[in-house]
This record gives sequence, structure tokens and C-alpha cells, in this order.
Amino acid sequence: MWWMLAGGAAVALLLATGLFLRRSSTSPAYMSPAYWDERYRRRPATYEWYLSFQDLVDFGLLTLTSAHVSFLGQPLIAVAGLRWLDLGCGNSTLADSVSKALRCQVTSIDISDICISLMKSKYPSKVRYLCMDARDLEFRDESFDVVVDKSTLDAVVSAGSATAKHAAKRIVRQVARVPAHGTDMSVILAKVLVPKGQFLVISVHPWSYWDTIISTASPNLVHCEERAQRVVLAAGRDPILVFLNVFSKGGMQY
Ligand SMILES: C[S@@+](CC[C@H](N)C(=O)[O-])C[C@H]1O[C@@H](n2cnc3c(N)ncnc32)[C@H](O)[C@@H]1O
Repeated sequence: MWWMLAGGAAVALLLATGLFLRRSSTSPAYMSPAYWDERYRRRPATYEWYLSFQDLVDFGLLTLTSAHVSFLGQPLIAVAGLRWLDLGCGNSTLADSVSKALRCQVTSIDISDICISLMKSKYPSKVRYLCMDARDLEFRDESFDVVVDKSTLDAVVSAGSATAKHAAKRIVRQVARVPAHGTDMSVILAKVLVPKGQFLVISVHPWSYWDTIISTASPNLVHCEERAQRVVLAAGRDPILVFLNVFSKGGMQY
């Protein structure tokens, strides 16, 4: 069931942000590969931040309604064979599920090489797992149709510092970069997303939060759609709101 965004969103956002901030007060190193290496060494079992692939399907991933959210005239997700990039995959099953259920070619990257070794041994064939920093993606321009971020940007911004926001902007620019100077959209430098490609951000923060980061980092990423869902992370805990925001590279100009 869906809740379109209203006043309640602000309350839930405070709760959700508190979740990350509480964690970051005891684990202030969400941007550090060493922190994640140690975490995956200690806890190799699958851990899904917020939502599994099936939860995302229930969330409406396959029925996104925005007019922008179509790919060559078809609903985005209905297109088999799309090239997906999962930013900061962790030991989530998202990439494996997308590759099987949607018959897409998925590449997953993570800054933790312990995580990547683990995922390669768990899922040896379907998904391409690479140890890489999302701030410096080593792919050719326009090599992905869909880029998905599930809580990696949340982890990056959780420190709340200017450095953290700078890192988030740097990641966004890897998805769809514009020249450092000038606003001439005809000279968009591509980076990894194809024109009209989709950037999916699954986060405890709503669009109003990401807008300030994304519109300055990559103004050619046009916001298409936002959905929100209450998620209970553990029995006995209050639900939090998790947001699915969809951005399209280039929006109407392509
Ligand atoms: C909160 S976890 C999310 C994991 C997974 N996406 C999920 O939804 O379950 C954040 C992940 O991002 C990775 N990460 C953090 N900073 C990164 C960076 N700069 N580049 C790539 N991965 C990064 C961490 O190693 C960790 O696996």
C-alpha cells in the first residue's frame, strides 16, 4: 500500500534519519572501506537494507506510472536485457533477483573487497561483481540503462558533514555528469547512464532532501516520481518511511 507524501513524511523522516544517525554515532565510518570489510567479515549472511527485491516489486517498481519512466516507449522494467548498475551492493540479493526475474545484465559494485569476494562466491555466474568506489566509476560513458542505489547514498550522507555531502554529489556526478562550468545542456558529459536512463534512489530521505544534492550535482537528472512506503525493520520497532525516487537522465530534452 502506498502513502503519497504529506505531513507524516516529515515525522517519519526524522525517525529514519535518527536510525542512521544513531548508527553513525557508534559507527562513524560508513564511508570507510575498512568499516565495511570488517562488517562483512563478521556478518557474511545476506542483509537487506530496508527492502528486498520482492518488497520493491510490492512497492511498485514494476508499475512506475510517471510518463518519463518509460524506456523506448515501454515501461522501464518490462524491458528485458537492460544493463543495470547496483551502487554499493553489499550482500543484498537485489542484483541476483533483478538479473533472474527481469532477465537483465547486472553489474554490482562495492567499495569493500571482502563484500565483493563474498558475493562472487555466493553468486558465481549471473551478476558481475566488482570492487569499485562509486565516487570514481571505471565504466565507459553511457554503459548502463538503469542505476540503482539502495541506501548507499544514505550511508554516505549519514555523517551529515560537508565532506559527506560532497561525496554524495561526486557519486551523483558519476551517474550523469555535467560540465563543471556553464549550464549548456547540449554539452552534457555523459558518464555511466544512457540518455533517458533511470536512476533509482531507495532511501530514508525524500526527494526534497535529494533534490538539493542532485540538482546541483547533475541538473540533467530530472525527477520523475516519488513513492513512499512504511517499513518495519525489526519486530517491535516503529515503522519508518522508505522512499523510492526515480530520476531520468535528460528528462524531456531527449
Ligand atoms: C547501507 S549498505 C547498503 C547495501 C545494499 N545496497 C543493500 O541495500 O542492502 C551501504 C553499502 O555501500 C558500500 N559503500 C559505501 N561507500 C561506498 C562507495 N564510495 N563506493 C561503493 N560502495 C560504497 C558499503 O560497503 C556497503 O556495502
